[in-house]
Amino acid sequence: MTPALELDAISKVYPLAEEDFYALREVSFDVPVGEYVALMGPSGSGKSTLMNLIGLLDTPTEGRALLAGQDAGDLDPEEQAAMRNRHVGFVFQSFHLLPRLSVRENVEVPLTYAGYRPGVRRRRALEVLERVGLGDRVDHRPSQLSGGQRQRVAIARALAMNPSLLLADEPTGNLDSETGLEILALFDELHAQGATIVMVTHEPDVAERCERVLRLRDGRLESDSAGRAAPVVA
Ligand SMILES: Nc1ncnc2c1ncn2[C@@H]1O[C@H](COP(=O)(O)OP(=O)(O)OP(=O)(O)O)[C@@H](O)[C@H]1O
Ligand SMILES: [Mg+2]
Repeated sequence: MTPALELDAISKVYPLAEEDFYALREVSFDVPVGEYVALMGPSGSGKSTLMNLIGLLDTPTEGRALLAGQDAGDLDPEEQAAMRNRHVGFVFQSFHLLPRLSVRENVEVPLTYAGYRPGVRRRRALEVLERVGLGDRVDHRPSQLSGGQRQRVAIARALAMNPSLLLADEPTGNLDSETGLEILALFDELHAQGATIVMVTHEPDVAERCERVLRLRDGRLESDSAGRAAPVVA
């Protein structure tokens, strides 16, 4: 089966006055469909840079990234945006919801972009909002929700297109620990339902819920090891 993600010697270089700065240096790994991966590493090690490259929000200086077997590097910016919309669901630490839109309308954004008709968008949005436990908040504005509820909306939006890959960059970073645990339980549930997830985290107990832990240091992939939730091989 084609992996959800294949990275082949990805580098990201920022040209600085003194010398080039390698935010990422020849990072390679694959993520099979259905895997739940934690991405760890010290501050500044390149985690967000890598997530942005995987999520097609940025382009690598060198190397290739394949999403569901497709190379975005060959596409023009508009095609890349369409591919991102189709294949990637992104969840950020700070939610990134549109304040003037209702919960349902926020979730419909990627569906609108993909050209779905209003009835289809509405049905799909309500379906994913039910799935994250927000079926009773669909007409609220983001400002009328708690932090945990806002993150659920963001997760519903990320799920709306049924993406190949769910990317989460410190999704519990702005939440208190109890609410954070609820959000992590939701990710566990999505994983059990088949979602492929890459999650940035600083917390070892968050990483323990994952099947695999990748560690970055100074832009390099320092280690790639099984997490506690890894399937036991007989
Ligand atoms: N546009 C840029 N120009 C120059 N350097 C940059 C740029 N963007 C990021 N960097 C550098 O790349 C490195 C990696 O940054 P990145 O945001 O990926 O770190 P991170 O691992 O996500 O850290 P944190 O845990 O603090 O979120 C940092 O040293 C940062 O200063
Ligand atoms: Mg970061």
